[in-house]
Amino acid sequence: MLSLLQISVLVILLAAIANGTPIEKRHDKFIVHELERTEVNLQKRTPSEQQNFFDTGNRWSTKLKLGSSQEAVRVILDTGSYRLNVPGLGATCAKQTCAADAVFHPDRSSTFKNLTEGSDSGYGDGSAITKGYKVNDDLYFDDGRKIPDFEFDVSTVSATEIGLFGVGDTDDEKSNYVFASKHAGLINRAGYSVYLGPNDQGTLLLGGVDKAKYEGELAIFQSEQNINAKSITTPSGKVLPFTKVVGFDTGNNGLSLDKSIVDEVYIELGGSPWGQFLCDRVLNTGRNLTFDLGPINISVPLSNFFYRTKVQPAVCNTFIFDDSNTGGLQGIGLPFLRDVYFVKDLEKKTIGIAPVKHTDDTDIVDFWF
Ligand SMILES: *[C@@H]1O[C@H](CO)[C@@H](O)[C@H](O)[C@H]1NC(C)=O
Ligand SMILES: *[C@@H]1O[C@H](CO)[C@@H](O)[C@H](O)[C@H]1NC(C)=O
Ligand SMILES: *[C@@H]1O[C@H](CO)[C@@H](O)[C@H](O)[C@H]1NC(C)=O
Repeated sequence: MLSLLQISVLVILLAAIANGTPIEKRHDKFIVHELERTEVNLQKRTPSEQQNFFDTGNRWSTKLKLGSSQEAVRVILDTGSYRLNVPGLGATCAKQTCAADAVFHPDRSSTFKNLTEGSDSGYGDGSAITKGYKVNDDLYFDDGRKIPDFEFDVSTVSATEIGLFGVGDTDDEKSNYVFASKHAGLINRAGYSVYLGPNDQGTLLLGGVDKAKYEGELAIFQSEQNINAKSITTPSGKVLPFTKVVGFDTGNNGLSLDKSIVDEVYIELGGSPWGQFLCDRVLNTGRNLTFDLGPINISVPLSNFFYRTKVQPAVCNTFIFDDSNTGGLQGIGLPFLRDVYFVKDLEKKTIGIAPVKHTDDTDIVDFWF
């Protein structure tokens, strides 16, 4: 039997829903980082020299505030690695001078600690190496809250042009930004959502899911990183099955797929074996590549995967690569992720994906799955 109290609460709830005013803020234990699409010159995923394609260098970056002076350091969001790695003073970045806003100055922080333990990371096929030292310092958010004594790496030699903000899976919770935010009491669940919006602006939402930013229901995958996706359907309707797992990676500006899939796509679209296409066949055709991920199909415009070359504007290069440059690991990167809302829960080891809805509206809730 319903008590009177329950009934009145129910009535208030219904009234509140009816006129659209929330009864209370649904969720406020989250952190928003603005993301910006950024041109960078990366060694990270560039292939060995005999392969005839190059990295156009679009990634998504944000600024983190490091140390007692809250120095803003620009970093690339990378769901494919798990540590924060920033170049220190005097470091080289992709064999060149590091961008000024990407360099961290430990001497400006009174809370900096050098753990003096070397920390080298390999990226891509392992040939791009970042060398540095483990350190710890406070990491601040815009509202002044912080993760105290966060462990990260300050590099002396960086394979990438700016630092990498790895938010992927790890067992080492103290050096993982997502887990560290939870341990600092800033979020309830060690998870995040990525929204790559139009106009080169997006958000990394830590500790929440923005229900306004996707269509339909999130498809949920029980997985730490890689999933058993089913197939890719080409514009002509050819179904190319995945023969091995794939991972989602914001640090990859393309699709790194098994050579058998890449070859079929190139042939169907009239590409050369080196990945050059007539732009008329691949840009603005209204056609899609459809990814059958199992519980959900995601159709992505073909145009996402190609770009005009500067020297011959009628000729397009592609972001679809064979996975030899990622050590044989299939990776689905930005051309796909731009068209989905991507949720990752490091704690329960789940991934959520739904078609993106581009809107300024927000409806941020806590993780419910
Ligand atoms: C950390 O300590 C190592 C070993 O002493 C040193 O080589 C390195 O320059 C130090 N790094 C920073 C950022 O202080
Ligand atoms: C491509 O995908 C979009 C979005 O799902 C859909 O509206 C459109 O009809 C698809 N185009 C073709 C040719 O299937
Ligand atoms: C995805 O598309 C395939 C091929 O059209 C279809 O067989 C499958 O049922 C679809 N999956 C979902 C979840 O709609």
